[in-house]
Amino acid sequence: MKIIKQSLLIVMSLAVLISCKNYNSINTKELSLKKSYKDKFYIGTAINQRQIEDNNSLESSLISKEFNSITAENIMKSMFLHPKEDTFNFDLSDKYVAFGEKNNMFIHGHTLIWHSQLAPWFKLKKDSLEMAVAMESHIKTIIEKYKGRIHSWDVVNEALNEDGTLRKSVFLNTMGKEYLTLAFKWASEADPNLDLYYNDYNMTDLKKRQGAISMIKHIKEQGVKIDGVGMQGHWHIDTPSIEVIEQSILDYAALGVKIAITELDISVLPNPWGLVGAEISQRFENNKLMNPYPKTLPDSIQTKLADRYNDIFKLFLKHQDKISRVTFWGISDKQTWLNNFPIKGRTNYPLLFDRELKPKKAFYSLLELPKNN
Ligand code: XIL
Repeated sequence: MKIIKQSLLIVMSLAVLISCKNYNSINTKELSLKKSYKDKFYIGTAINQRQIEDNNSLESSLISKEFNSITAENIMKSMFLHPKEDTFNFDLSDKYVAFGEKNNMFIHGHTLIWHSQLAPWFKLKKDSLEMAVAMESHIKTIIEKYKGRIHSWDVVNEALNEDGTLRKSVFLNTMGKEYLTLAFKWASEADPNLDLYYNDYNMTDLKKRQGAISMIKHIKEQGVKIDGVGMQGHWHIDTPSIEVIEQSILDYAALGVKIAITELDISVLPNPWGLVGAEISQRFENNKLMNPYPKTLPDSIQTKLADRYNDIFKLFLKHQDKISRVTFWGISDKQTWLNNFPIKGRTNYPLLFDRELKPKKAFYSLLELPKNN
């Protein structure tokens, strides 16, 4: 009887130990994403205001343990960083850069010229000259402020429509298409050592890809520096296919630019009909069909997500010579923007850490992949 009791106790303690396999327990193993991928490419994450300001939580130790690059999820967008023409708010961006420096990270700037989350005063610019003055001073003031401390910038974000034509933004409407070349020219004048990126979603889509390629060629033909293409990577459990992602990587690399995967997350939820990409103004109604896993993710989908991440990273490793950085758009499923985009109030599971910050199957599917690839 005593032996049975003792064995029962051992089995129970083991069960508790296994169920507690949380982030702390992998710490002790000395394994981490950033270590595994050290010789391949940077492994980054986007961080929000709370994560920038809170330096001592489990979450911040997870960030510094797993990632060697950061992107600001929101705080450096023009509506926050430069809300009035004569006012810059550098408080949070100072903390963001300090966080990266403290942890010896590759620090990325996101983003200078973008039609969304745009400072309202830009919209008052009526002609080409007014807009050019505003853009040049916006770009140069911000880049110069962090010269030598921020290592790469998304100079222009989402300038393309899905059919590859240029989006009719306030920048295009006032300045014509040369605003693109000028933005990169001003950025390189402000800091010639920066890596300058064009960043967009749906960069695997054929028409958009052709549009991006001709835009980059046009900038280069004018002797202006552009160093890379950011493929955002807001992808889905089944799409885009590995073949299409690979072809896109090859097509961009053929231009002689680096490729960064800048905003990786993989939605496991149904995609509302007609939605393409990550245009943040798009919104759809919530209902039970659109939110099938409000409590937990079934094991089968958890495994499917892990396999999908595994396939994608095998491809990234195959093209490691072309890829500079892979950045996840957030840390855990708890705070991912995909809980509220494109439908508010859903429960999505797109990242490597769950709502309690425990590593998911998807995390383990990537951790030791570089050993054999
Ligand atoms: C998103 C943020 O994650 C959200 O918190 C915010 O409400 C909207 O913007 N493409 C981009 C990112 O370049 O800046 C967007 O980030 C997602 C789509």
